[in-house]
Amino acid sequence: MDTANKNFQSAKRREFVATLFVDYYLQWEAENVFVAEENDKVVGYVVCSTNKTLFNQKMKEIYLPKIKKISFFFWVFAKICVKTSWQLDSKLNSGGFHLNVSKNFQGKKIGPKLLNSLGQHLINEGYNYMYLITANKKTRGYGFYTHLGFKQFKKCLGNSIALCFNLKDVNNQLAKYSNVNL
Ligand SMILES: CC(C)(COP(=O)(O)OP(=O)(O)OC[C@H]1O[C@@H](n2cnc3c(N)ncnc32)[C@H](O)[C@@H]1OP(=O)(O)O)[C@@H](O)C(=O)NCCC(=O)NCCS
Repeated sequence: MDTANKNFQSAKRREFVATLFVDYYLQWEAENVFVAEENDKVVGYVVCSTNKTLFNQKMKEIYLPKIKKISFFFWVFAKICVKTSWQLDSKLNSGGFHLNVSKNFQGKKIGPKLLNSLGQHLINEGYNYMYLITANKKTRGYGFYTHLGFKQFKKCLGNSIALCFNLKDVNNQLAKYSNVNL
């Protein structure tokens, strides 16, 4: 993806981001991955974990050691992210999600469409919430998610904030995006 901010353009940092936020989900929980494609190229994706045991096991066995080889500092950060992902509250019975839309395709409502697909899927699987952690209230994501009906759930490390969406609101807030075309 081309959406990494200016601090994350180097090959090493991009490898770290992919290892922490993408690789596990593709390999082990592909049923919780939704992609938007144009001409066979992925232009947006959302990933989520619904298997705490598998997530923690594979992160510990495969992905955290890989990240440690990239950088000790990233490894410390990754350990915090992995721990936080499943420990916000017991009622959030699925792991947090990560959503990304390629620069040239932002502003076309692909993000909400992907969230609707994930939300409908999680409801079918018996889950009640989906959530993410955003760095602070100034991020683009904060405005975007609160616009879609996400509520502040918890303050996390530093200024970061957990935002949570109650899946009973999917049909009111997100289903309208299901017809969006690229
Ligand atoms: C943030 C992101 C997921 C949004 O997806 P998108 O498909 O580009 O979303 P759109 O810009 O088409 O916006 C969809 C809706 O959200 C609204 N919206 C988007 N950004 C908003 C903001 N910052 N504040 C308020 N509303 C916002 C739009 O007005 C639109 O509303 P509408 O459907 O009622 O007209 C996507 O741009 C992205 O991946 N960006 C790069 C990574 C990033 O910034 N992630 C957030 C980090 S926390």
